[in-house]
Parts: sequence; C-alpha cells; structure tokens
Amino acid sequence: MNVYIKTYGCQMNERDSESAAAMLAEAGHTIVHTEKAADLIILNTCSVREQAELKAIGKLGILSRLKREHPWLLFGIMGCMAQSRGEELLEKIPHLDFVIGTDNIHLLPETVAELEKGRRKMRHDLRMGADTPGIDAHRLEESEQPFSAFVSISRGCNRFCSYCIVPYVRGPERSREMDSIVEEVRMLAGQGVKEIMLLGQNVASYGFDRKPPSEMPDDVSHFAELLSRINDIDGIRRIRFTSPHPAYFNRRLIETVGALPKVCKSMHLPLQSGSDLVLKRMNRPYTAEKYLQIVNDLRALAPQMTFSTDIIVGFPGETEADFEATRQMMQAVRYDNAYIFKYSPRKGTVSAKLYPDDVPQTEKERRNQVLLAELEKINAENNNALVGQDFELLAEGPSKRNSASWMGKTDTFKQVFFKAPDGLKKGDFINVHIVRATSMSLYGDVI
Ligand code: SAH
Ligand code: SF4
Ligand code: F3S
Repeated sequence: MNVYIKTYGCQMNERDSESAAAMLAEAGHTIVHTEKAADLIILNTCSVREQAELKAIGKLGILSRLKREHPWLLFGIMGCMAQSRGEELLEKIPHLDFVIGTDNIHLLPETVAELEKGRRKMRHDLRMGADTPGIDAHRLEESEQPFSAFVSISRGCNRFCSYCIVPYVRGPERSREMDSIVEEVRMLAGQGVKEIMLLGQNVASYGFDRKPPSEMPDDVSHFAELLSRINDIDGIRRIRFTSPHPAYFNRRLIETVGALPKVCKSMHLPLQSGSDLVLKRMNRPYTAEKYLQIVNDLRALAPQMTFSTDIIVGFPGETEADFEATRQMMQAVRYDNAYIFKYSPRKGTVSAKLYPDDVPQTEKERRNQVLLAELEKINAENNNALVGQDFELLAEGPSKRNSASWMGKTDTFKQVFFKAPDGLKKGDFINVHIVRATSMSLYGDVI
C-alpha cells in the first residue's frame, strides 16, 4: 500500500511518525510524500491545545473530498487524539477506518494488513511498557538530515501540570531500559549519525518513574548517567535533549551537563510563567528564583550556554503583575528562543475544572505580542554580541531561501549562514568567523 503520514504536534510525534513509517516500510509498504499518491492517509495527531485538535479534524474533513475522487482511499488516526478520543472519532467520522493510540504504533503493520483484508473501524489503544517493538526503528536513508536522529527515552508524563492534557493522553511516565537506548544510539552512530536528540515529556526525570521530586536526592540523576554513557559513544559528536522539567535539575545533572563535552550548551528549559502564584496554580513546583538559580548554575559552568523556553500567557487569573513577572524573567534569562502559547482549557485537566478561563482572548493575544517583541529585542542583542567570535558548525545543507549560502548550527543552537567551500557535505563540521547578525540569524565566513 502507498501510505502518507501527516504529523501534528511535538517532536515526540515526529519521532513516532518516523518509527511508524519504518515499520510500515519494513512490512513492504511504500511511504509517499503527497496525499494524492496515497492509498492510506494517516494523521498523527496532537491534543495539547484546542487549535491542534481542530486542525486535524478539519484536515480529515477536507480529505474526505479526496475520497470522492479515489473511493479506495483509507484513513487512520494515530497519536494523542487517537488515544483520548478514538472511540468518538470512529463513530462520528464515517470515512475513518482505524485509530491507533500512542503506545500501539507497533500494531500499525498488522492493522494495515487487516485493512487489506477488508476490516474497518479498528481501534488499538492499550497502554504498554516503554520498550515497544520498533521504538528504535529509524529511516535515516529517507531523512533530509541523516546525520541527526531523534531517540525517545521515555513515554508519558507523571507531572500533571494543571493545564496539561499530556499525562492523560500519553499515560504515566515509563522510562526505557538504559541499555536499549544506548544500543540504539550505537546503531545510529554506526550509520553515520553525529547528533542525537533525546526525547521525552520530562527527560530529566528519566528513570525516576515512581519517585516524586521531593524525594529526589541531589547526587543521583539517571538521566545524567544516560548522558555520560552516550557521551562515550564513538561517532556521536553532539547530544541534545527536550524537554527537562526544572524540578529535576539537581546538582548531579547540572554538573554533568556542564562537564560532558558532547552535551550541547543550549538548554530548552520550560518556564511556563515567571509568577510564583501562577506557577503554583499550574502545579509547577518551583519558583522564579529557583529557576533562575538553575540558569545561573549552568551558566557558571558554561558561560556560552543559550536558553529557550515554553511560556503560557493568559493562564486563569493571570494578572498584569503576573504577566510582568514573566516579562522580567525573559529579561533576566535573555532567552534565545521562546515558544509562547495562549492558554487553552483542556477537558479533564485540573485547571479547566477549577479555574474559569478569565483572561480575554484579545488580552492573551496582546501578552503574546508583548513577549514576542521582547524576545526579538533580546535576540538582536544576543546575536550582535556574537559578531567577531568563531564557532564550529554542523553543516545542515543549502539555505532554503538562498541556495548560494549554506546553513549550519553552533553547539549553542544558533543558525549561521555561510558560503560553503567546494566539497562540503551535509553533516560535516566547519569553522566560521561571525561577521554579521540580525535578530533572526548570524552570518559567517569560513575560516
Ligand atoms: N513536556 C513538555 C511540554 C509538552 S507540551 C514540558 O513540560 O516541557 C508543550 C508546551 O505546550 C508546554 O510546555 C506548555 O507551554 C504548552 N501547553 C501545554 N498545555 C497547554 C494548554 N492547555 N494551553 C496552552 N499551552 C499549553
Ligand atoms: Fe505537560 Fe507538565 Fe508533563 Fe510537560 S511536564 S507534558 S507540561 S504535564
Ligand atoms: Fe501534542 Fe501529544 Fe506532543 S498532545 S504536544 S503530540 S505529546
């Protein structure tokens, strides 16, 4: 069968789509890149905000028209919405043939085999352990960036931030066996992968599955141990990860991140809010001061470290003063990037039950814009300060906008455009001297 997979949501979903594609290809199917070429269209869905769900449902509606032209066309939904609303969707959407939940991706090949036999309306959404078959299946040969790979280290989340639907759809946190992750990274290194992105809803709590953070000692971090083991693998040059919850940044992890040469000095550290009162209602067990302490401790070990974050504006009850506290945190940390979201109440979550969604949409939008403008200003300043410095880049390939120039990334996750010397290949390392900066990008001369 020709299968087209469209992915919504986070990097975990992207990774799941890749392993789904690898398993389907292994079973003899062809992965195609347009809807028109497909016999089966699978949407890998996200539930994190209402908009994300509406987008996928809207897409299914539009695709149903394609079925009029190609009556043989089949449809499946996987991912977070399949897990939480699978039964309802199967009932409501007549042309939907199956749903596959977040832990059941390995059942895709047999589900497609059943489809070929004529079965319809199938649903698989049982919870599984973390090391499901195929969680380590990759498709590097199809990747535009075969030098870089995502590796899932855990499933689910135990944090229950009050606004968040993820623990309900992805289930409880289950860490993969460390040996199995290390083996997967070794295999990837053997295939030429140089950069690894470790993925989990809360990577820093890796291995602590059943222990709340209050019991967490300062000198034990299973995630730090995993980083050390991956750091030892020949061929791997850069290790990145997303996302670590600030509550799990103990001394051991901070020192490990600072010390290991292959662990990139760029950190995605979700803040959510700079107001302690809002953080409390969000069930995020840290204060702005504690968060800043982590940032400062990391910068003390690696002064060049860059930070990115997630922020929610318009959480219920967020006052102007709360918002101002968030704005001040942006100033204090001097983020290089921030994903800013407008609060969206999710059915079943604690905040949706307890607190009215009382910040008007226009005010959420205004706060969003204020933070974006702030971020742009900080970015321009951060980038300008890098002019005159030298960096090693991992060359990612010709720039999308201007093919005469190439783009590469620093260890600190800054994009640099440069003129590629003859013979440069994607995935090579190259040194540049930064000559110019904008708020978005850096420009360098090859040294
Ligand atoms: N596990 C990751 C986040 C996964 S969801 C972490 O804790 O960092 C990605 C981001 O979506 C969150 O960090 C949060 O900023 C945002 N988000 C989650 N639920 C939301 C909601 N109900 N409304 C708006 N934004 C939300
Ligand atoms: Fe959601 Fe919080 Fe878990 Fe992240 S840590 S997935 S925001 S509950
Ligand atoms: Fe969305 Fe699921 Fe990721 S809800 S953000 S795709 S874990």
